[in-house]
Amino acid sequence: MDDTGPARTTRAGPAPLDWGIGHYEHTAADLLPAARRLVEVAGVEAGETVVDVGCGTGSAALVAAARGAAVLGVDPAARLLALAREQAAAAHLDVEFVAGAAAALPVEDAGADVVLSSFGVIFAPDHRAAAAEFARVRAPRGRIVFSAWLPGSPVIEMNRLAATAVREALGIGPGPAPFPWHDEAAIAELFVPYGLRVTAQREELIITAASAAAYLELQSRSHPLAISGLAVVDRHGDGTALRAHLLDVLENGNESDTHFHTTSHYLITTVR
Ligand SMILES: C[S@@+](CC[C@H](N)C(=O)[O-])C[C@H]1O[C@@H](n2cnc3c(N)ncnc32)[C@H](O)[C@@H]1O
Repeated sequence: MDDTGPARTTRAGPAPLDWGIGHYEHTAADLLPAARRLVEVAGVEAGETVVDVGCGTGSAALVAAARGAAVLGVDPAARLLALAREQAAAAHLDVEFVAGAAAALPVEDAGADVVLSSFGVIFAPDHRAAAAEFARVRAPRGRIVFSAWLPGSPVIEMNRLAATAVREALGIGPGPAPFPWHDEAAIAELFVPYGLRVTAQREELIITAASAAAYLELQSRSHPLAISGLAVVDRHGDGTALRAHLLDVLENGNESDTHFHTTSHYLITTVR
């Protein structure tokens, strides 16, 4: 056996996630108002070429196509692309959906008037490669417009705690901080090499459910991140304690006495 090279831990880090597991479509429905807002802020016009990066079930792509743009949706998750194609057909919209990732877009140089990403590029493992690719495909005088969660809202805090619990259960420590796609200064620095300027605006999204417990239960059995994360914590850690902690966070952040109602804050950034 080859025993040279760096010392290894016995447990590997989290595997790359297939967003096709579970039923991301429930979350896509919750996020649809944010996709609509993204397209509005981007000012997508009829006849423009648009690429929607991390398109998922096609939310922003379909909104842009309904405005008369020529749209390509790109995502690594095959099942979500199939759902996006079904939605396009049902809406009689001519949108192409293809497999791909932010760091390798199937788009020619300067091929997109608008590069959109509704909470998609934030999952790219290499932020510099994604930024380089966005700058490559952006047409002269085009724009790159994407959304990213701001930290602190209950649903975002729930996701952060779950991700931390996964790493603890795997015994792999906190790891490097992900690139802050919600931080205007960091994004401005990321796009300096391409001579591009950044503007950003805060937005908010309301999420509702019958109760905090019902929301957590639906997320646990439908959201790809929750399904894979809870499976790891159930196997290697204390899933019951994690669920109780997550429910606490959601209940403390509930803005209603009659049902679950919470505000999530996010940033829309425009790079041009
Ligand atoms: C939170 S979902 C957003 C989906 C959709 N844009 C929406 O608004 O509902 C994140 C999406 O990013 C995709 N994704 C994950 N890694 C990616 C990468 N490296 N490049 C592009 N998309 C990626 C996932 O497959 C998933 O569809």
